[in-house]
Amino acid sequence: MRNILVTNALPYANGPIHMGHLLGYIQADIWVRAMRAMGHNVTYVCADDAHGTAIMLRAEANGITPEQQIANVQKEHIRDFDGFGVHFDHYDSTNSNENKARSEDIYLKNREAGNIAIRPVTQLFDPEKNMFLSDRFIKGTCPKCKAEDQYGDSCEVCGTTYNATELLNPRSTLSGATPVEKSSDHYFFKLPNFAQYLQKWTRDEGRLPVSIANKLDEWFDAGLTDWDISRDAPYFGFEIPDAPNKYFYVWVDAPIGYMSSFENYVKTTRPDLNFDDYWKKDSKNEVYHFIGKDIVYFHALFWPAMLEGANYRTPTGLFVNGFLTVNGQKMSKSRGTFIKAETYLQHLNPEYLRYYFASKLSDKVEDSDLNLDDFVQKVNSDLVGKVVNIASRCAKFINTKFDNKLSNTCAEAELVQSFIDAGDSIAKSYESREFSTAIREIMALADRANQYIDEKKPWALAKVEGQEQQVHDVCSVGINLFRQLAVYLSPVLPTLAKQVQDFLKLESFDFASRQNVLINHEIAQFEALMQRVDPKAVAAMVDASKDSLAAPAPAKAEKKSEKAKEKKAEPKIGEAEIIGIEDFLKVDLRVAKVVEAATVEGSDKLLQLTLDAGEAETRNVFSGIRSSYAPEDLTGKLVVLVANLAPRKMRFGISNGMVLAAGNGEGIFIISPDSGAKPGDKVS
Ligand code: 2FM
Ligand code: ZN
Repeated sequence: MRNILVTNALPYANGPIHMGHLLGYIQADIWVRAMRAMGHNVTYVCADDAHGTAIMLRAEANGITPEQQIANVQKEHIRDFDGFGVHFDHYDSTNSNENKARSEDIYLKNREAGNIAIRPVTQLFDPEKNMFLSDRFIKGTCPKCKAEDQYGDSCEVCGTTYNATELLNPRSTLSGATPVEKSSDHYFFKLPNFAQYLQKWTRDEGRLPVSIANKLDEWFDAGLTDWDISRDAPYFGFEIPDAPNKYFYVWVDAPIGYMSSFENYVKTTRPDLNFDDYWKKDSKNEVYHFIGKDIVYFHALFWPAMLEGANYRTPTGLFVNGFLTVNGQKMSKSRGTFIKAETYLQHLNPEYLRYYFASKLSDKVEDSDLNLDDFVQKVNSDLVGKVVNIASRCAKFINTKFDNKLSNTCAEAELVQSFIDAGDSIAKSYESREFSTAIREIMALADRANQYIDEKKPWALAKVEGQEQQVHDVCSVGINLFRQLAVYLSPVLPTLAKQVQDFLKLESFDFASRQNVLINHEIAQFEALMQRVDPKAVAAMVDASKDSLAAPAPAKAEKKSEKAKEKKAEPKIGEAEIIGIEDFLKVDLRVAKVVEAATVEGSDKLLQLTLDAGEAETRNVFSGIRSSYAPEDLTGKLVVLVANLAPRKMRFGISNGMVLAAGNGEGIFIISPDSGAKPGDKVS
């Protein structure tokens, strides 16, 4: 039995889990379940990656503290992982005391070993926000082709890369201010100290996919450089010991989160495990990180070097997955293919996706495509048409004619044994992460099982007198074959496996348990196991993922009641006048943040809102929402502002714009962009 610790890349605490993320999480979860089914002792941990400028600014835009921001997102992440059956033993946050202590420990040991340098760095600084700006928060004119509105690192028009300080007319995207150059001390991790070590490490057997090791050679050839591991305040993260106002760059404490999440799991839940057994230098236990190919640099260079420099063990291996495309293209919000985990779960069974991903994944660092038509076709034909079909064809006879008992002989011992024997190769495929091969092997068995039942035709035999024993034998073989398939699919389809285990009244469903053939065995009443994928549900999911204001539905032919006409009711969806896109585009909709909200003396309907409309613009808006909102509910809230409405003089002052809200006669509901939008963002 092997002792294994498995981790997934820690998702940032500033956004939702989507299909692209799920590829790697589902891959790891399947592997963990498969290794456990083979009898290994596997611990599986993860955490939210909670630090950094992006999260700090996101919290600020949402009008909440970073701690609230990361707590909110963590709840959503845990909900989504649970929804997809991605079952971590422990889910933590990198913003924990244990992670702070471990980060300091690793840093100090490296400092002690001479792996830290300090030197000044000149960077652009936002004098209004009082902070240094990373490249993505600076825009200006390309020094080469003079294209406007280019980021601080490279020009999207001519492709030139440059330093942010070379941009013409630079401006901070955070405040609009003109940045100034400013110098401050930065802390560096001396990566070149580990050049030889890493060159060998990346070529160790099983450490990395060979294609990745080859790619890393290019970096070795180009020469490793010191890694800037500090950021100046304000920064949401851990302060560096003996360096006031300097913080660890998020990528320092993020992978250390793998260790501290495990540490917290041991502390809170598993006193029988020991931290050192997994992390001390000569540990024989195995540690694997599942990551995406975009973060190899951090995991294959900085991370092992930091660990080696602090005298800890390094990961046994990195399992690297490619990117996900949907319908052959990059996920797109306008096409509705940027599908959030939450949206998927509102429409479809998570096991469909687990199966589809498994059928695509191998140990290669290749991109995978989620083709939605193929998805429907494959799940329906393989899982419903082949696998579940075997049980539904056989179970009803056992339930109704044979008192729920399987036959007391195995009529096809050889056939059943061949299914049992196939498990060794399937297990190997799982172990080597060749999931698509495992699925192919399992589906070939499913075809054979169906062929057997087709040949024997128990439904026809059942009509012939004196053939009861035959029917009993054939259906019992069918159920035994089905059981083998369900065991083999259990890492991919844990919910289905649990249903089958209950139906077959089996104590264990691990791979070893498949060896005993079910003879004279009682089963439960068969219940439908899995529904076909409804293409309409897929279409509805895509529709729900579309990020544009839906045009009103065409007018219904229903006759409006005279009363409604008299009342001049508000136009309802379905009754609205159709307008052209040109008319719609005239409306300037923008994200704004409520800075202040107050009641209006003399009005029981209105609230006075002070809005941050982006680009340092403040708006005064009177909004008729008092019946549904108290002023304190609104401060910090993001709203959608109609920004080009002519100012309206009211009794209480001038209203400069309008805030969008939905109303159904019983309440008013402000339309609020998802977290992440910033004041001034255009809404379209
Ligand atoms: O790329 C990302 O999404 C990072 N949050 C992954 C961090 S993995 C680990 F190092 F923490
Ligand atoms: Zn240019």
